Amino acid sequence: MGLVIRGGTVVNAGERFEADVKVEGRTITGIGSNLAKGANDTEVDAAGRFVLPGFVDPHVHMELPFMGTVSVDDFETGTASGIAGGTTSIIDFCIPAPGTSLLDGLAMWKERAAKATADYSFHMAITGWGENTADEMRAVVRDHGITSFKVFMAYKGAIMVDDHALYQVMKVAAETGAVVTVHAENGDVVWNLQRELLAKGLTGPEYHPVSRPSAVEGEATERALTMARLHGATPYIVHMTCRESVQALERAKLAGQRCYGETCPQYLLLDDRVFDAPDFGGSAFVMSPPIRKLGLGHHQALWSGVSNGMLDSIGTDHCPFLHEQKKMGAKDFTRIPNGAAGIEDRLSMLYTHGVKGGHFSLERLVELGSAAPARIFGLTKKGSVAVGMDADLVIFDPAPRGVRSAKTHFSKADRSIFEGHDVQGRVERTIVGGRIAFENGKLMAERGSGRFLARKPTHFAQHAEVNA
Ligand code: URP
Ligand code: ZN
Ligand code: ZN
Repeated sequence: MGLVIRGGTVVNAGERFEADVKVEGRTITGIGSNLAKGANDTEVDAAGRFVLPGFVDPHVHMELPFMGTVSVDDFETGTASGIAGGTTSIIDFCIPAPGTSLLDGLAMWKERAAKATADYSFHMAITGWGENTADEMRAVVRDHGITSFKVFMAYKGAIMVDDHALYQVMKVAAETGAVVTVHAENGDVVWNLQRELLAKGLTGPEYHPVSRPSAVEGEATERALTMARLHGATPYIVHMTCRESVQALERAKLAGQRCYGETCPQYLLLDDRVFDAPDFGGSAFVMSPPIRKLGLGHHQALWSGVSNGMLDSIGTDHCPFLHEQKKMGAKDFTRIPNGAAGIEDRLSMLYTHGVKGGHFSLERLVELGSAAPARIFGLTKKGSVAVGMDADLVIFDPAPRGVRSAKTHFSKADRSIFEGHDVQGRVERTIVGGRIAFENGKLMAERGSGRFLARKPTHFAQHAEVNA
């Protein structure tokens, strides 16, 4: 049984054209005019709608044990939420506890992810440096198809790495051809600022952004880029929020360094007035790095970056916690679990504000949300509508208007950081692995139908500055 998607406008990263798309099994097998329909094929009318490659989210945290609790979407509900928003592949972060084996961590994450309704891979987090870490990193790439690592330069006393570990991770990553994703904030400075604020009795969620100024992100971004450059490693700076870090990335790119930058919709679209919400309402917006203040050039730097190519991708950092979980920090903002939902909102929010708002074309949005993350992270069958690619597709109707709300989203999160935001355009259908998994508001995603995506390394050392 296959599908023929009839008469839509196919939009890839660099092109758009009217065509039928034929799907057999899990694969796109034909693109053209008047494609024949087999006796058992389902025909889907896409006239007047866009046919997009399934979006790839390179930054999510499903059922993540974090800050004394666990993020509320598991791999089933989180991927289903993604499908409702046009995302058909995710890259989650496998985060083994400090001092534990990467391979044991991977086994644990694979077990959790077996219920995913969409395809998935992992970035492997390095949360400390031990005598087996280098060999385990090599094994993860060589034997397990994981070709990207993660370092947190923040979250001191938990998963933060020091410069020694950062140096070593970049070295082994360059040797193995893996990308290093980086949470870039100076965790020691954040820790000091947090203590100073708490000592003055400043404990509410509105002090979260005060404890993490943009200079702290800029400094860490610069340091990560430098560490990578020493070894010719390829860094991918996740969830960039500010002018200083975009400028650091821009300097590195213009100097010829291979490096990538990601931002997320919330950093483009929200500002620190969200912390004015009464009754601990600001806690919903507590994430790191923080949502920035308007008028300081941060939002403009991000919009320019995603438009002009200095920033490469837009992920979501989907990591939701319930209000009840956020209350762990009712008397101390440093204990509010950091993170929010976003995987379901990305396409409609960016179509509305990015495309209709005049910042970039729909082709560029496909590049930022699908083609680029697929290419950077070696998902070779994802990111474009083409014969031979996986049949992960989104039929997107650009006309309807809607409102984002926790009342209607599929995530288990009880609040939406985009609550009440108007959007234009709607995901009408999402096709995952050749099957319709979401149709006109109804989810048909099948628990466990997602597959683990093994990847091959492509980012071997380039222009190393030291030869240790
Ligand atoms: O606040 C956030 N971003 N929570 C998820 C973990 C991380 O730092 O990405
Ligand atoms: Zn982070
Ligand atoms: Zn994250």
